[in-house]
Amino acid sequence: MNETIGVVGLGYVGLPLANAFGEKYTTIGFDTNEQRVNALIQGIDHTGEVGLAELRASRIQFTTDPTRLEECRFIVVAVPTPIDHAKKPNLTPLIKASETVGNHLRKGTVVVYESTVYPGTTEEICIPILERHSGLIAGKDFKIGYSPERINPGDKQHTFKTITKVVSGQDEESLELIADVYGSVVDAGIFRASSIKVAEAAKVIENTQRDINIALMNELAIIFERLGIDTTEVLEASSTKWNFLNFKPGLVGGHCIGVDPYYLTYKAESVGYHPEVILAGRRVNDRMGQYVATTLVKQMILRDIPVQGSKVAVLGLTFKENVPDIRNTKVIDIIKELKDYGVEVNVIDPFANAEEAMQEYGIQLKTMESVYCSNDAVIVAVPHNEFVSMGWNGIVSLLRNTHGIVIDVKSTLKVDGCPKNITLRRL
Ligand SMILES: NC(=O)c1ccc[n+]([C@@H]2O[C@H](COP(=O)([O-])OP(=O)(O)OC[C@H]3O[C@@H](n4cnc5c(N)ncnc54)[C@H](O)[C@@H]3O)[C@@H](O)[C@H]2O)c1
Repeated sequence: MNETIGVVGLGYVGLPLANAFGEKYTTIGFDTNEQRVNALIQGIDHTGEVGLAELRASRIQFTTDPTRLEECRFIVVAVPTPIDHAKKPNLTPLIKASETVGNHLRKGTVVVYESTVYPGTTEEICIPILERHSGLIAGKDFKIGYSPERINPGDKQHTFKTITKVVSGQDEESLELIADVYGSVVDAGIFRASSIKVAEAAKVIENTQRDINIALMNELAIIFERLGIDTTEVLEASSTKWNFLNFKPGLVGGHCIGVDPYYLTYKAESVGYHPEVILAGRRVNDRMGQYVATTLVKQMILRDIPVQGSKVAVLGLTFKENVPDIRNTKVIDIIKELKDYGVEVNVIDPFANAEEAMQEYGIQLKTMESVYCSNDAVIVAVPHNEFVSMGWNGIVSLLRNTHGIVIDVKSTLKVDGCPKNITLRRL
């Protein structure tokens, strides 16, 4: 293909995608967020997925002008698909992006959706919008496809080019074209799904499977705590079996694992099935922040540390390690619960943006230095490399009189290095 490619939505998914296409094709990167586009033009990617040098060398034409999409014969949509307060799919960004693409769609264009959705969304929601706004007919005047994204923010090993790309199209011709275009930029190979719905379902169950497996680990962690057994030690032993799955307990935040299952359960409910296992997993995972906080409070009481007015350092606010994204972080559940007990919480996160933390959660981020020797407990909530590498010395430096309680949510601290006057708990 010798045509221009358009990418709609330049976030964690869209930017690396545009970057890869930009190496081979004239690529237009469109986003409605002016601030984001201006930063990208200057070579700054706040998601940290594409480096300064790479962005400066890239030939992507960043724009907020939707008419530029008229130049594109291949358009990929990678806008957010969040849930609302009632945990129902919020398709507004997808609908708005489809309206924009529809308004500027020309005959002969292929539109591929990459946003994570429930099976049926592309054909039942997106196609009618594109047709209505373009006056064109899908399958005849333009073609549609779906290709789920599987990147893992912060992961430099599994990237857009090194993950097998699942593609689908509304007919044989579009499938082959979409496979060719992605095949020209993805090194790991292409998997042709038999239909758009199959490709949509494949993505949504990848994250649902992870969610349920993590929920099982979280439930085991709660049981083992009551039995006085260390979960990490149990998992180390069980992992020696060839088919034992490698999952660990933890907080499930972000906009994928904790969100995508609701897309599937919403669709299931709409066809008369009330999912039990999937929602049970969601319930367990959603309670873990509160569980971590109450575990700490119990330990404080046992150690005669007055809870009200105590100080706790929480290391990490982002939804996972080594990324700056604080949206849907479950660390906030720990913080809220502790504050309900009257605890003063010192949140430290070198990755998170201080302004965003204040805007989104009303949290004033602290530096390590500003809270040295002043905390009764430390919660290692997100194991950013910086926190892991500082080890016990760094943790102890935050504690008042070098003793107190440490909760290691992801079990990254070495147990045998734990100083005697510290109570260590981990999930
Ligand atoms: N982040 C991940 O790890 C990941 C992995 C796989 C799949 N996904 C899925 O990919 C999709 C995109 O996720 P993301 O993490 O890149 O989101 P994001 O929030 O990082 O970025 C989305 C971008 O889309 C822009 N946008 C919103 N509405 C728009 C519109 N109408 N027109 C143009 N631009 C618009 C936003 O300004 C933003 O820059 C979601 O469906 C998500 O579930 C995400």
